[in-house]
Amino acid sequence: MLKLDVTSQDADGTARVARLISDELRPRDVLLLTGELGAGKTTFTKALCAALGITDVVTSPTFTLVHEYVGGRLSVVHSDLYRLERTGELDDLGLEEARRRGAVLVVEWGDLVPGAFDDALVVTFAHAGGDLRNITLTWRGSGWEARFVRLADRLRTGVGS
Ligand SMILES: Nc1ncnc2c1ncn2[C@@H]1O[C@H](COP(=O)(O)OP(=O)(O)OP(=O)(O)O)[C@@H](O)[C@H]1O
Ligand SMILES: [Mg+2]
Repeated sequence: MLKLDVTSQDADGTARVARLISDELRPRDVLLLTGELGAGKTTFTKALCAALGITDVVTSPTFTLVHEYVGGRLSVVHSDLYRLERTGELDDLGLEEARRRGAVLVVEWGDLVPGAFDDALVVTFAHAGGDLRNITLTWRGSGWEARFVRLADRLRTGVGS
């Protein structure tokens, strides 16, 4: 299976999707969050961090581009590449280094950097009127292939599609 679509009715629905995904996460996983402005990428990340047991307030890394959260089952490095000006700057953010230490990377607008992040779960958010969002999950690389089927089962049962 290559792709799964789920509908989120409101911010709580997106949080539910984040919680179900969080249960499957392991050290060094990469989540690329894509989709329009205000579609729910940061809302998703807040819920994901909470589900991992992170108690810090999670805010959008709009200006600093990277925030790191520790203290949960896994540490999370949350980045937003919307304002990244040159692809070369990506190396300066230390994401790969954090990943090697075992952090989960959650990267908003991660699709803007061609060739980066070749092994990742890709979560795409699209406005569908009002609070409705279509959330599409897919994956790249080989690391997610087997897990994706299990995750899709959990999401279908837990959220409905
Ligand atoms: N179904 C939904 N899922 C997620 N957020 C929703 C939903 N319905 C309403 N919202 C609201 O939409 C807004 C989403 O903003 P958020 O900052 O998460 O978007 P974003 O994708 O991170 O945007 P940006 O690209 O600017 O970083 C929040 O105010 C949230 O409460
Ligand atoms: Mg955001």
